[in-house]
Amino acid sequence: MARFPEGFLWGGATAANQCEGGWQAEGKGDSTSDHLTGGTVSTPRRYTHDIEEGTYYPSHEAIDMYGHYKEDIDLFAEMGFKCYRFSISWTRIFPKGDETDPNRAGIEYYRGILQHMKDKGIEPVVTISHYEMPFHLCDAYGGWTNRKTIDFYVRYATTLFTEFKGLVKYWLTFNEINCGLMKFGDYMSLGILPKEDGPTMFHDPNETVEDRTKRFCALHHQFLASAKAVQVAHAIDPANKVGCMIAGNMPYAYTCNPDDQLAAQRAFYQGNYYCGDVQVRGEYAPFAGRILKEAGVTLDWEPGDAETLKAGTVDFYTFSYYMSSCVSTDPEATKAAGNIFSGVKNPYLEASDWGWQIDPKGLRYYLNDVYNRYRIPLMIVENGLGAVDERAEDGGFHDSYRIDYMRKHIEQMAEAIEDGVDLIGYTPWGCIDLVSASTGEMKKRYGFIYVDKDNDGNGDLHRERKDSFAWYQKVIATNGEDLD
Ligand code: BG6
Repeated sequence: MARFPEGFLWGGATAANQCEGGWQAEGKGDSTSDHLTGGTVSTPRRYTHDIEEGTYYPSHEAIDMYGHYKEDIDLFAEMGFKCYRFSISWTRIFPKGDETDPNRAGIEYYRGILQHMKDKGIEPVVTISHYEMPFHLCDAYGGWTNRKTIDFYVRYATTLFTEFKGLVKYWLTFNEINCGLMKFGDYMSLGILPKEDGPTMFHDPNETVEDRTKRFCALHHQFLASAKAVQVAHAIDPANKVGCMIAGNMPYAYTCNPDDQLAAQRAFYQGNYYCGDVQVRGEYAPFAGRILKEAGVTLDWEPGDAETLKAGTVDFYTFSYYMSSCVSTDPEATKAAGNIFSGVKNPYLEASDWGWQIDPKGLRYYLNDVYNRYRIPLMIVENGLGAVDERAEDGGFHDSYRIDYMRKHIEQMAEAIEDGVDLIGYTPWGCIDLVSASTGEMKKRYGFIYVDKDNDGNGDLHRERKDSFAWYQKVIATNGEDLD
């Protein structure tokens, strides 16, 4: 019997700020991502309030998908993509964010993409906000700390639902919304401007209750915006399906010490279900009260908020999954690296060059846990291996390590489906090489398609197929049966 259902959505995923470039093209405004410099695994990206002359900002050109989208979509079609997840840059549609009328050129740019995808038979999965927002909304209004941003977002989302009615069915309201629980998300996700120029993503030991209150309230505002957008999407076109997008957090207890078990359970709940419950069930989970209390935070509930959340629950649950971590209450335990979630090193797992612990079985565990809690369709909208790809002597890119990573994850997806999970799609991250979100590098590549560009911005941007290209093409053609 086939392991994957007919119509399974095989595809790939990108985000505007990491691939488009064209940062000022045709009236586009400044995004928060346009103020982040390049970095490396050891040198953090810097935020600068003003754009510095002579400084390298990777999003400004990225891989210029703005100028190459037809070629790129043609390559996706050649691989047999059934769907393609990409994000719309808010500042192409509303350059400052608070205008009443959208920028027509931005709308037409995305219409061109969607039309081309339609011609190629590729189903779009559109992220409305992926780690960027109009810089002006942050500077003038305080980003998501301000309730006015909810209305600006709803106007933006309504414009998309109206303009692209019939062209898009699957929408995601916010990328990795649970990043708003952490310092990492302050700037990336919530648009809270740092007090001064410098690195933005790391835990601040001097953080105050006021800082935390801003963060949790901003996240609450995003929940409200998402719930309102869901209602508008359904009203404009009942065929629309709107999903949440959570950074999949898979923490294991390091030992069977009950303290470790409780800490891991809390990390799992907080990491996934604090946001998941609000977006899927329309209410905060029972454990949320204690999390807020211990953080010293009181949310700024207003009349009508509870009803809004309840009326705007999502149709499907999507998530990113790269790695797992371990939780230990022992302060001596060795730390492991991670994108958003780090933890203690797991002796049973290997790690990527960036220290992310590779764990295909953790994906099966995660799929089972989430599906049994929510019982709505799931989609894996990011997964993959960030690696250094070197050109071989014969001129090709032989990324067998990437094929191996994906094969093992797809095998576990099949197991989860056998376990009873309703998994409807899989869009590996960075299906074409793009700028890394956490480090700003090009060197950290995820793609089936190589892009000629280095960390300093050199390269002619031409595209080439890696070995994984033909491999994934075969996986899709056989609906996941042939993984060799
Ligand atoms: C996810 C983000 O957290 O991880 C993507 O949604 C990001 O935007 C991806 O690119 C991989 O992380 P990184 O830091 O390797 O680019």
